[in-house]
Amino acid sequence: MHPRQISERVSWLGVVDWDRRLFDSLIPLPDGTSYNAYLVQGSEKTALLDTVDPAMADTLMAQLRDVPKIDYIVSHHAEQDHSGTIPLVLEKFPQAKVVVTPKAKGMLIDLLRLPEDVFVSVEDNETLSLGDKTLKFIHTPWVHWPETMVSYLPEDRILFSCDFFGSHIATTDLFVTDEGRVFEAAKRYFAEIMMPFRAVIAKNLEKLSGLDMNVIAPSHGQIHRRPAFITDAYNEWVHATPRNLVVLPYVSMHGSTQAMVDHLVNALVVNGVRVELFNLVVTDIGKLAMALVDAGTIVVGTPTVLAGPHPLAAYAAFLANALRPKARYLSIVGSYGWGGKTVETLSGMIPNLKVEVLEPVLCKGMPKEDTFQALDNLADSITRKHQEQGFA
Ligand code: FEO
Repeated sequence: MHPRQISERVSWLGVVDWDRRLFDSLIPLPDGTSYNAYLVQGSEKTALLDTVDPAMADTLMAQLRDVPKIDYIVSHHAEQDHSGTIPLVLEKFPQAKVVVTPKAKGMLIDLLRLPEDVFVSVEDNETLSLGDKTLKFIHTPWVHWPETMVSYLPEDRILFSCDFFGSHIATTDLFVTDEGRVFEAAKRYFAEIMMPFRAVIAKNLEKLSGLDMNVIAPSHGQIHRRPAFITDAYNEWVHATPRNLVVLPYVSMHGSTQAMVDHLVNALVVNGVRVELFNLVVTDIGKLAMALVDAGTIVVGTPTVLAGPHPLAAYAAFLANALRPKARYLSIVGSYGWGGKTVETLSGMIPNLKVEVLEPVLCKGMPKEDTFQALDNLADSITRKHQEQGFA
């Protein structure tokens, strides 16, 4: 795609990656993604803000073919989907300086083997004049690495936010056209990489709240012309209390755990508690992560296999532990054939979760009357806890 103008002498460059289906060898990308870079041409100096994934470097280099000079390459974030083409840009523009946070400098030296003298480190709130345009750098750590920052262009009231406020969507629409679609994709992205750091994200949101923004231009997905849409959404994900929602990732081998899960879901629904059910054999983990943003309670359903939880259930527990959702309660349901340490193993895998563990329900073989009664009790206990906490 050719460069596209956002405002006077500010352009989108980059690549729409329609075919990518996995990020970090982990995160599903059902709708592809984009790597957005931006060119800001001041009356005296020109800055390129971020680059693109090195797999797509040719496209960016073609877009830069007729650009006479680049004085600065601003690297908001050292991850390679944004930084990976910096070496090629430096080959074409050897006089350019790479503008980074002090932390990013060390990371880019490690990741890209760039020489130390190519960097200009900027402190929080430092400004860089491009002549009639100015870049103000605001440190916003832990979005989702420790070195991250954003840039504000006051003359055009544009915030360049890199991963912050981004979404994995491939589209030819430069600006947000369907807020519902972007809300879901942005929430998925927040859940997958930023949820564990939401205390710092909250501080970053507070820091940006005083800016007079007309546009937020992230480095994935579409550009926001209504900044409040995405900042309000982030504030909700970060600050809102959990919902009256049970997120239930499970796996069943021969039907016993499935029967227990089905019974528990029905009991919860009768009690007025919403449930999002994820059969881990077919689950998109991005959707599971997104559901965890709102969950009041997590219940893991698993059979016992090789004396412990099913590996898919262990994966879900590991993921939940890494994502650190706000959920306040957790339980485990499942079946076993002759014994094992499913509950102990799973409980040991979630040290990061600040949850009260509700009495697990395990049964030998197919569930019986007393199993269903125990599941009813668990549903009642979850319902009562949610009511006490005011989850709505
Ligand atoms: Fe889009 Fe954290 O890189």
